[in-house]
Amino acid sequence: MASSRLLFSLCLLFVEVLALAKAQQPADQPKMLYHDCVGKGNYTTNSAYQANLNQLLNSIYTNTEINNGFYNFSYGQDADTVYSIALCRPDISPDVCRVCIRNASDLLVRLCPNFVEAIGGLDNCTVRYTNRSIFNRMEKGPYFWVYDDRVNVSDVVGFNQSRMTLLDRLRDEAAAGDSRYKKAMGQIAAPNFQTIYALVQCTPDLSASECRDCLYNASGLIPECCKARQGGRVIYPSCNFRYEIDRFYDPSTNSIPPPPDSTSNNTVPSPPASTSQGKKGMKRNVIIIISIVPIAISVILIVCVCIFLRARRKQKGEEEAKDLNEMEDVELLQLDFGTVRAATGNFSEDNKLGQGGFGVVYKGTLTSGQDIAVKRLSRASGQGELEFKNEVMLVAKLQHRNLVRLLGFCYEKEERILVYEFLPNSSLNNLIFGIFVI
Ligand SMILES: *[C@@H]1O[C@H](CO)[C@@H](O)[C@H](O)[C@H]1NC(C)=O
Ligand SMILES: *[C@@H]1O[C@H](CO)[C@@H](O)[C@H](O)[C@H]1NC(C)=O
Ligand SMILES: *[C@@H]1O[C@H](CO)[C@@H](O)[C@H](O)[C@H]1NC(C)=O
Ligand SMILES: *[C@@H]1O[C@H](CO)[C@@H](O)[C@H](O)[C@H]1NC(C)=O
Ligand SMILES: *[C@@H]1O[C@H](CO)[C@@H](O)[C@H](O)[C@H]1NC(C)=O
Ligand SMILES: *[C@@H]1O[C@H](CO)[C@@H](O)[C@H](O)[C@H]1NC(C)=O
Ligand SMILES: *[C@@H]1O[C@H](CO)[C@@H](O)[C@H](O)[C@H]1NC(C)=O
Ligand SMILES: *[C@@H]1O[C@H](CO)[C@@H](O)[C@H](O)[C@H]1NC(C)=O
Ligand SMILES: *[C@@H]1O[C@H](CO)[C@@H](O)[C@H](O)[C@H]1NC(C)=O
Repeated sequence: MASSRLLFSLCLLFVEVLALAKAQQPADQPKMLYHDCVGKGNYTTNSAYQANLNQLLNSIYTNTEINNGFYNFSYGQDADTVYSIALCRPDISPDVCRVCIRNASDLLVRLCPNFVEAIGGLDNCTVRYTNRSIFNRMEKGPYFWVYDDRVNVSDVVGFNQSRMTLLDRLRDEAAAGDSRYKKAMGQIAAPNFQTIYALVQCTPDLSASECRDCLYNASGLIPECCKARQGGRVIYPSCNFRYEIDRFYDPSTNSIPPPPDSTSNNTVPSPPASTSQGKKGMKRNVIIIISIVPIAISVILIVCVCIFLRARRKQKGEEEAKDLNEMEDVELLQLDFGTVRAATGNFSEDNKLGQGGFGVVYKGTLTSGQDIAVKRLSRASGQGELEFKNEVMLVAKLQHRNLVRLLGFCYEKEERILVYEFLPNSSLNNLIFGIFVI
C-alpha cells in the first residue's frame, strides 16, 4: 500500500515536472541580439504589404534549395512588394541557418510591429526586409556592434596591430569570393601568446570592391566597439566581421565548394564535409527523440493509471485502519506558521527563489541559522488536513540522496507550506519547484 502510494506520488511529481518544463519554455525563446525598426513608414494591419511580408518570410524558412546561407527574395506587386535579404554565418549548416532565420524574422516582426523596414539578427544570422529593392546594393546603415569584455587585453597596441593585420587579410580573401560566398575565416598570433580568430563576410551580391569597402568601413568602428576587448563584432546590413580569442568558428568550412559546372556531368555541388556531417548528426538526434519520447510518455502514463486505480481500490478498505504511529511522527514535523513567516521575512519578494506549478518558493533562515527553502502552495489546493499530512509523511519517508530533505510543514487556516533544506548553488533546488503535488 505505502509503496504504491509512493509510486503514485512519484507519478504526480513527474506530471508536475512535465507541466513545469512546458511552462518554462517561453523563457527559452531566443532573444534578439540586435535590431532596428527603420523609421521609414508604417504599413497598416491586414494590408497587402503585411500579407506579402508574412508570405515572404515563410518562404525563406521553407526554401531548402539554397545552401550557401544567403537568401534574396521579393514578393508582391508594385508598391506592396516586399524585399528581403537574409545572411547566415558561413560555417553553419543550411538547416541551422533556416531555423535561425525563422526565429529572427518572427522576433523582428514582433519587435517592429507595422514597420515597413526592419533589420535584426541572432547569433548566427541577420534578416532585413523593406519595400525597396536592396539586392546588389551596398548598405552601411543601420549598423550594430556586439562585444565581449570578460577579458581585456593588456597590450592594447600590439593586440590592435594583430587584429588589424588579420582583418585586412581576411577582407581581401572575402572580397575575392564568388556570387555564392564572400567570406573568410582565419587566425593570427597576438602578443602574450594569444591567438586572435576572426570571421568576415559580405552579402555575396556585392562586387569585390563594394565588399572591401564595406568591411573597411566596418573595421573603422573598432575604436568604439572593441578596443581592448577580447571579442567583438560589427554588423552592417551588407557585411560583418567578428573576432574572438577562442576559435569560435568551424575551420573545416573555410574552403569554398566548387560552383555547379554545367559542362561537367557533376551538376550537384558536393557540400563541404562538415556541413553534411552536421546535417546527418542532427537528423539522427531528431529521429531518436521522435521515436523515444512518445513511447516513454505512453509507458509512464499507463503505469500511472494502473497505480492510480489500484491505490483507489485499496484506499477505500484501509482508510480507517490508519497507522496511528505514522500520525504521531508527522506531528513532529509540523511547524508554526509564525516561525516560517519570520524565517522568510514575511515571504518577502527579495527572498523569492522562484515559482513552480503549484506555489511560490522562498529562501529563509531559521533562528538556529539553518537555511531553508519554503514552498508555499497556492491557496486553491482545497485539500483536507488528513490528506495533506499523509502526503507530507510520504515525502518525509522518501529520503533519497537525489531529493532535497523535507524538514517540516505547516498547515494553518488557508496556508499549506512545505519546508525543505536549502542547498546553495544546487540544481537540486530546482527540484523543489516540482517536488510536491497536492
Ligand atoms: C516605402 O514606404 C515608405 C513609407 O510608406 C514610402 O514613403 C516609400 O515611398 C516606399 N518606397 C517604395 C519604393 O515604395
Ligand atoms: C510607425 O509607428 C510607430 C509606432 O507604432 C511610431 O513610433 C513611428 O513613429 C511610426 N512611423 C511613422 C513614419 O509613421
Ligand atoms: C535577388 O532579388 C532581385 C530582386 O528581386 C532579383 O532581380 C535577383 O535576380 C535575385 N537574385 C538572386 C540571386 O536570387
Ligand atoms: C550558432 O552557431 C554555432 C556554430 O554552429 C553554434 O555552436 C551555436 O549554438 C549557434 N547559436 C545559436 C543561438 O543557435
Ligand atoms: C529557435 O527558437 C527555438 C525556440 O523557439 C529554440 O529552441 C532554438 O534554439 C532557436 N534556434 C536558433 C538557431 O536560434
Ligand atoms: C574591460 O573594459 C571595459 C571598459 O572598457 C569594462 O567595462 C570591463 O569591465 C572590463 N572587463 C574586465 C574583465 O576588466
Ligand atoms: C590600431 O591599428 C591601426 C592599424 O595598424 C591604427 O591605424 C590604429 O590607430 C590603431 N588604433 C589603436 C587604438 O591603437
Ligand atoms: C564609413 O562610411 C561613411 C559614409 O559612407 C563615412 O562617413 C565614414 O567616414 C566611413 N568610415 C570609415 C572608417 O571609413
Ligand atoms: C558525361 O555525360 C555524357 C552524356 O550525358 C557522356 O557521354 C560522358 O561520357 C559523361 N562524361 C563523364 C566524365 O562521365
